[in-house]
Amino acid sequence: MKSNVFVPQEELDIQHQIAAELFREIRPRGLTFYVETFGCQMNVRDSETVKGWLTEAGYSEASEKDSADFILFNTCCVRDHAEKRLMGNIGALKELKDANPGLLIGICGCMMQQEGMAKKLLKRFPHVSLIFGTNVLHKFPEMLRDVLNGDRIAVTDRANDAIAEDMPKLRDNPRTAFVNIMYGCDNYCAYCIVPYVRGRERSRKPEDIRDEIVALAKDGVTEITLLGQNVNSYGNDGSTGMHFADLLRYVSDVPGVKRIRFMSSHPKDLNEDVMRAIAELPNVCHHVHLPVQSGNNEVLKRMNRKYTREHYLSIIERLRAMVPDIEFTTDIIVGFPGETEEAFLDTMSLVEEVGFAAAFTFAYSPRVGTVAAKREDQIPESVKKQRLHALNELQARKTVENNETYIGHIGEVLVEGCDERGADTMLYGKYQNFKMVYFPGCPELLNRYVTVKVTKTNKNSLLGEMI
Ligand code: SAH
Ligand code: SF4
Ligand code: F3S
Repeated sequence: MKSNVFVPQEELDIQHQIAAELFREIRPRGLTFYVETFGCQMNVRDSETVKGWLTEAGYSEASEKDSADFILFNTCCVRDHAEKRLMGNIGALKELKDANPGLLIGICGCMMQQEGMAKKLLKRFPHVSLIFGTNVLHKFPEMLRDVLNGDRIAVTDRANDAIAEDMPKLRDNPRTAFVNIMYGCDNYCAYCIVPYVRGRERSRKPEDIRDEIVALAKDGVTEITLLGQNVNSYGNDGSTGMHFADLLRYVSDVPGVKRIRFMSSHPKDLNEDVMRAIAELPNVCHHVHLPVQSGNNEVLKRMNRKYTREHYLSIIERLRAMVPDIEFTTDIIVGFPGETEEAFLDTMSLVEEVGFAAAFTFAYSPRVGTVAAKREDQIPESVKKQRLHALNELQARKTVENNETYIGHIGEVLVEGCDERGADTMLYGKYQNFKMVYFPGCPELLNRYVTVKVTKTNKNSLLGEMI
C-alpha cells in the first residue's frame, strides 16, 4: 500500500499570496499572455493551470502571439520532430524580443524534463527568461516574480512527484473539461519517453477529483474527460482506496454532468469491472480509446505492453457484446525495431478485424534513454514510411465502412464548432460515442445539445440534419 505525497496547503497559500501581490502591479499595466501547447491532453490541462496562474497574477489572454507580453511554449517530446520544431519556434521569437525588450519568453512541458535540456536551452537562447518542468507548476507565481525582477531561471525537479491541488485554471470551452485523475506512468513501454519525463504514476484522491467535477458542473460544464496515461490502473497502488471502475461510479452522479469520457486506456488493465461500469452508468460514454500499438505478439512483447493480440481482441469482443453502440479508437506504431513484414501484416489484419472508428498512427521514433532506442535492429525510415502509408490507406477504408453504418442514426450531439463554407454555416459536434457529425445550423447553437440525424457520409465525415 502506497501513500501519495501532496504539496502542503501552506506552500500553495504562499503562491496565491505572491500572485495577489503581482496582480496589483501587473493589472494596471494591462499585460497579456499567449500560451502555445504541443502534445497530448495532459499538456492541454497543464496549460490551463499556467494560464490560471497568469490570470491570478493580473495578466489577461492575448488574442495573438505577436502582441503578447508573455509568450510560453508548452512542449512535448514523445516523438523526435518536436525538438526541431521548437527550436525553430523559439529562434523566430528573437526578433519580437528585440523589438519589445519587455517581452518575456518561457518554455515548459515534457521536453524540459529531459536530462540537461532546460539548462541547455537557457544557455542557447538568451532571449528566453523562464524554463520549467511539469512537476513545478505549483511554484509558478514565485518563478514569474523572479523573471519579472530580471532573473533568467530554469526550474525542473524530476524527483518531485508530490500532487498539487488548489491551483487555478483558465479553460477555453464552457461545456467540456479535462480532469486529471492521475499523473505520470510506470509502464515503461520500450519505445516511450513519458515515464522518464512525467515521473512515477500517482493517483489523485477520489474526493479531490469529485470536488473538481462538482465545481466544473456548477460552472456549466456538462462533459468531463478523465485523464491519465493509463486510467485503468487508477488506484492500483492502493493509495486511494478505489479502482477506476469505482471512481467512475463515484463521480458519475455529479448533478449536471451528462457525459463522462476517459483516456487513455491500457489494454492490460481494462477489466470486467470497468466494462460493467461503462455498460451500466448512463452518462459514461460508449467510446474507448484503446491503444493497441501492434497486432503482433512478438512485437507487443518487445514493446513491453504486457498483453497479447488475443487478449486485446477479447476486450473488444466482450465490450461490443455488452455495449452494442460502443466505438473504439486506437494508437498504432509501425516500424518498431525488429518489426518484420509478417509482423506488420498482423497489425494490418488486426485493424481490418476490429474496425476502429479512427486510428492515430505513428512511425516509430527512437527516444534517447528508452530500451527500444538501444536496439540494433532499427527499421529503415523508408520502410516505416511505406508501412505507415499502407496502414493509413487501410484505416481510411475502415473509417468509410464505419461511417456507412451510421446512415439514419439519430442521437444527441454537443455542438463544438462551426465551419463557414461559402454561404452555408456547418456546425459540428460529437455523439456520446465520439463519432463526429456535420450539419447545417446557426452559430447560436454552439455549446448546446441538439438532436441530429445522419443523412449521408463523405469520406471522412458524417453529414446530417437537426431534427
Ligand atoms: N499513455 C498512452 C499513450 C501516450 S503517448 C497509452 O499508453 O495509451 C501517445 C502515443 O504516442 C502512444 O500510444 C504511441 O502510439 C505513440 N508513441 C509513443 N512513443 C512513441 C515513439 N517513440 N515513436 C512513435 N510513436 C510513439
Ligand atoms: Fe508511454 Fe506506455 Fe506509459 Fe503509455 S502506458 S505513457 S505508451 S509508457
Ligand atoms: Fe507529449 Fe508529454 Fe503528452 S511527452 S504526449 S505531452 S505526456
